[in-house]
Amino acid sequence: MKIICVAGARPNFVKAKPVVEALEARGIDVVLVHTGQHYDANMSQVFFDDLNLRPPDFVLGVGSGTHAHQTGKAMTALEELLPSLEPRMVVVFGDVNSTLAGALVAAKSGALVAHVEAGLRSRDWRMPEEINRVVVDRVSDLLLAPSHDAADNLRAEGYREEQIHVVGNVMVDTLFANVTRARECGQDLLARLGLAPLGYGLVTLHRPENVDDPDVLASLLKTLERLAARLPLVFPAHPRITERLTGAAPEGVRLLEPLGYLDFLALQASARVVLTDSGGIQEETTVLGIPCLTLRESTERPITVTEGTNTLVGRDTSRIEAAFFRALEGVEARRPPLWDGRAGERIAEVLVAAMLDEARVRPTGAPPILGGAP
Ligand code: UD1
Repeated sequence: MKIICVAGARPNFVKAKPVVEALEARGIDVVLVHTGQHYDANMSQVFFDDLNLRPPDFVLGVGSGTHAHQTGKAMTALEELLPSLEPRMVVVFGDVNSTLAGALVAAKSGALVAHVEAGLRSRDWRMPEEINRVVVDRVSDLLLAPSHDAADNLRAEGYREEQIHVVGNVMVDTLFANVTRARECGQDLLARLGLAPLGYGLVTLHRPENVDDPDVLASLLKTLERLAARLPLVFPAHPRITERLTGAAPEGVRLLEPLGYLDFLALQASARVVLTDSGGIQEETTVLGIPCLTLRESTERPITVTEGTNTLVGRDTSRIEAAFFRALEGVEARRPPLWDGRAGERIAEVLVAAMLDEARVRPTGAPPILGGAP
C-alpha cells in the first residue's frame, strides 16, 4: 500500500509531518515528494530540521515563477515521476500551487486523491489559493476537513457525504508537539532581540494583495509605524516583501529574515498580539490564545473568528488601530472542536480504510458527483 505525499511550500511541511508519521506508524510505504516550490534554506530545510521531518524521497526543483509556470513545472515533473512509483493514493496539503499540481496529476493517473484541509473557502476569487482550494477539492476522492464549517461548505457544493471526513487540524498536531521545545529555545531568541514576553507585537505580511501594490504596502507600513509607537513590533519578512521594501524599516518595527518553525512559534507564543495576512497563523494564534488581527477582507478560516482569537481588520488604518488597542486588552482563549493534536491519527485511519475498500470510495470508478452548485 504505497502513498505519495506531495509538499512544496513552508506550510505544507508543517501539515505533512503528522500525516507522514501516522501513516508510516501503520506500516504504509510513504513516498515524500518535495516539489521545490520553496527552496531557500530558511523557507524549506529549516522546517525539516526543526520538525525532525525525514528528508523527502524526491525533490523536483520547481522553484519560483508565475502561477502557470510554477504549477506547470510541478505537474510535468510529477507526471514523469508517478508511473514508476505506482501509488494507490496521493495526498496533498493546503492550497498552494504545489497542492494544485499534485492533485491534478494524481487525479489523471488513476490514483486515489486525498486533500488535507479540504473545504476551506474565502469566497474571494481574486485569491489564487481560493482557486487552488476549489479545484483540488473537485478532483479529490477524500476530503479531509479541519472543522465542521469546512465540511458544511463541501456539503453545500454537493459533495457526497462518504467523501467528507472532519478530522481536525493537522497544524495543531505539529504545534502541540513542538510548543514546549519552542518556548525553551525561544528564551535565547527573545533575549537576543531584546524582547520581553508580552512586550511586543509580531507581524507577517506576504499576500500579493498586500505587498505587490506599492501604495497598499506603503500605507500598511505607515500603519505599522503608528502601532509601533505604542508597542514594539517584530516582523520576520517573507522574500516576497523583502524584494519590495525599498526604504528603511518603519520606526519601531524590527525586520528579521524569515524564521524557522521553532523560532517563529516561540515569537508567536510570547507575543502580545499578532498582525498577519497568513492563513496558518490565524489558526496557530487561536490555539495559543494570542489575539490575532488579520489584515485581509476575507478569511477561509472563519472558525478562527467565531471560535478563536482572530479578528478580520482589512487594510484601513483606523480600523486596524482600533482593533489593535482592543487586542492589547486581551482576548478570550477558545479552540474549535477536534483541534486537539490527533488529526494526523484520524487522517491515517481514514486513508488506510479507504485503500482497503477502494470500491466504496470510488463506487463507479467515476469522479465525485456534484449534486449542487460549485
Ligand atoms: C506561497 C503560497 C501561499 C503561502 C506561502 C507560504 C501559492 C500560490 N502561494 O506563497 O499560499 O501562504 O507560499 O509561504 O502557492 N522566494 C524565495 N525563496 C524561496 C521561495 C520563494 O526567494 O524559497 C521568493 C521568490 O521571489 C518568489 C516569491 O518568493 O517569486 C514567491 O514565492 P511563491 O512560492 O511563488 O509564493 P509565496 O508568496 O511564497
